[in-house]
Amino acid sequence: MLYLTHVLRLLSILSALSALSAALPSHRRPSTKESDATPLPLVIWHGLGDSYAAEGMKKVAALAEEVNPGTYVHLVHLADSDSGDRQASFLGNLTEQVARVCEQLASEPILSTAPAVNALGFSQGGQFLRAYIERCNFPPVHNFVTFGSQHNGISKFQACASSGDWVCRGAEALLRFGTWSDFVQSRFVPAQYFRDPEELDAYLEHSNFLADINNEREVKNPYYKNNLMSLNRFGMFMFEDDTMAIPKESAWFAEVNTTTGEVTPLRERQLYKEDWLGLRALDEQGKLDFESVPGPHMQLTDKTLEKVFREYFAPVQDDDNTLPQLLVTQDVH
Ligand SMILES: *[C@@H]1O[C@H](CO)[C@@H](O)[C@H](O)[C@H]1NC(C)=O
Ligand SMILES: *[C@@H]1O[C@H](CO)[C@@H](O)[C@H](O)[C@H]1NC(C)=O
Repeated sequence: MLYLTHVLRLLSILSALSALSAALPSHRRPSTKESDATPLPLVIWHGLGDSYAAEGMKKVAALAEEVNPGTYVHLVHLADSDSGDRQASFLGNLTEQVARVCEQLASEPILSTAPAVNALGFSQGGQFLRAYIERCNFPPVHNFVTFGSQHNGISKFQACASSGDWVCRGAEALLRFGTWSDFVQSRFVPAQYFRDPEELDAYLEHSNFLADINNEREVKNPYYKNNLMSLNRFGMFMFEDDTMAIPKESAWFAEVNTTTGEVTPLRERQLYKEDWLGLRALDEQGKLDFESVPGPHMQLTDKTLEKVFREYFAPVQDDDNTLPQLLVTQDVH
């Protein structure tokens, strides 16, 4: 029975693969060995206050296509309009938002029939895509890159960019009800990844998102760990002069003492030592990259993006044996 499921699955993957290559444009660069393979589709989740329809996101998608020709890019969105998607980056219950993105990716024909996809998360979009990997991972993620993400949460809320920004103001007003109230935890997005080490008990009890996806509660979810461990490579990029996402070291899963500023790197944390998320396993296999980029939060140059796209999202070689392994991990449901 199990064997049959595997065979059927393999058959559907093979036919999907040929359908996929037929659907993709055939203008590949000539002769070099790298260009023989088709790049995996790329899924991108934008940050707070941004939208899938924003010019900046379209440019990033175009750049990904330019660097690795033939890349199919999917921009994650929680509404079909620019303003609606932007609003969803401030307001909503992350449990529901992540579940909707799981459905979105699984029902997108090109993505769900690909052997795997690559994923790129900007700022909070990084920890949300990580939640997608941990909770769903169908289609499975091959290489994962996050820029300035708050993997260990924020210990301070970001100030609104302008006083006329009603969505942001509204979200701020919600905070008056208290960060740890169900009301705020089910509606205000950044509150769901708020984590002050000085209020760890309240966080563990009430956090609607981060405490769960970081497997910090007593009962660990082995499925989260298995899925994250199945990544081929996880590149975590931190902005050196980030003053917006506090603390910036959250991009590397570090914990920062809010009074002394003392940084406890991931490798010295219990989360790593007891490997609640599979990060230690990835690290020991050389698959976890701690990278930094100069400049403030999300001030990315095309040059940096091009380098990262080339390094992480280039076509997978035919003789690359990492993909079949990814497929097998899908059956661990
Ligand atoms: C968020 O949504 C989930 C799923 O609908 C629900 O179980 C949970 O209670 C909600 N969170 C809060 C804090 O209300
Ligand atoms: C932060 O550092 C202070 C001073 O060393 C210490 O008293 C406090 O317990 C630390 N906080 C946490 C959460 O470890």
